[in-house]
Amino acid sequence: MFRVTFFYRATGPRSETLPMAFQLKLGAALAVALLATACGKKDEAPAPAVAPAPAPVAAKPVIEVLHYWTSGGEAASAAELKKMLEAKGNEWKDFAVAGGGGENAMTVLKSRAVSGNPPTAAQVKGPAIQEWAAEGMLANIDNVAQAEKWDELLPAVVANVMKHNGNYVAAPVNVHRVNWMWANPEVMAKAGVKTMPKTWDEFFVAADKIKKSGAVALAHGGQNWQDFTVFESVALGVGGADYYKKAFVQLDPTAIDSATTTKVLNTFRKLKGYTDAASSGRDWNLTTAMVIEGKAAFQFMGDWAKGEFTAAGKKPGEGFLCAAAPGTGNAFTFNIDSFILFKLKDEAAQKGQADLASAILSTEFQEVFNQNKGSIPVRLGHDMSQFDSCAQDSAKDFVETDKAGGLVPSIAHGMAVAPAAQGAIQDVVTQFWNDDKMGVADAQKRLVAAAATK
Ligand code: BGC
Repeated sequence: MFRVTFFYRATGPRSETLPMAFQLKLGAALAVALLATACGKKDEAPAPAVAPAPAPVAAKPVIEVLHYWTSGGEAASAAELKKMLEAKGNEWKDFAVAGGGGENAMTVLKSRAVSGNPPTAAQVKGPAIQEWAAEGMLANIDNVAQAEKWDELLPAVVANVMKHNGNYVAAPVNVHRVNWMWANPEVMAKAGVKTMPKTWDEFFVAADKIKKSGAVALAHGGQNWQDFTVFESVALGVGGADYYKKAFVQLDPTAIDSATTTKVLNTFRKLKGYTDAASSGRDWNLTTAMVIEGKAAFQFMGDWAKGEFTAAGKKPGEGFLCAAAPGTGNAFTFNIDSFILFKLKDEAAQKGQADLASAILSTEFQEVFNQNKGSIPVRLGHDMSQFDSCAQDSAKDFVETDKAGGLVPSIAHGMAVAPAAQGAIQDVVTQFWNDDKMGVADAQKRLVAAAATK
């Protein structure tokens, strides 16, 4: 949890004040003009005493948006938001901080906020929204939400995350599903793997065949958040939704200390034997590229990976396959991207923020953004006919798992618990993945301790 004291000045955006060099130039130009008027030659027509005032020009809102969408599919999605805001007369100031999962972006955001200079909007999600709101830094966007009926448009599970003390303080963009398995059908076929594995046992049988064929069975990028992403799918697949909720949403020490977690850790560790030697530190999108290019068979990653397949011109069922991670067919780990808007005094900036909040929820934006991003629209009842089959499955499963109790928040992607506990658990998971000498019982003890982090 970031417990910093915010020395926050409610400053307007930079467009409010002219840059110093420009002010100086402007001052000098005015002095020359006045001097010329005062010294005007007698035979010249007298200058009018007061020059007609130029018509006031409304300041163009500058929307500085902090995000971490820098891969091919992500950048194509961010470009759609930029286009839409510019069409509404705003100037888009891109503030992209590279780094999957957003850890780098959050560090940069905190330092900007601490120095009293937050951006107009930032890509922040889940319980972290509550922490920013509790610091008193967020704008209340109820006016837009009420005018556009967000309470009716949004599923309750989404709306709740966006509100602080009953007021909307964040605008949701999409629903990502995290418990996906992506595959290259040609690599599977060459190794004699006919269907997507539905259980972890089936997965290991398939993975052995792929390994024998010479390809990499599991494309994995060894970064803490990617390790955690895989771990959460294993936990859900091995333990089921009820166990997952107890252990990784409620952080119940008994559930974390159970035999199920032992099984989860053993299964997770076994996966490492199917990754390649160059895995450590590799970015997620380069990892997806291994599947796209036929170097690897499978990847466990949220459906932003589909944005990469799409950007590479691949179609589901032909160029790639999607299925729920083994054992998770009846569950859905949700990850909702959203933007928080900072409290700013400047009226032009406030208008820009309202435009952003309203654009994000529009049908038009939801359609084009989510087709690029790999996610599904956050609006209830959105027409999915133009989406690919993976997205159509996702939209159906989102609704069905919500009814049947299988809809769970992703802990690896900041939806389930406060950032402090999330970070501590992620550290244990990643240490366990990297240190083959750490025993399962030891890791389990450390997980219990990490879950108590406040
Ligand atoms: C975000 C996605 C993003 C992914 C990779 C996730 O946590 O929700 O929008 O594409 O990380 O950076």
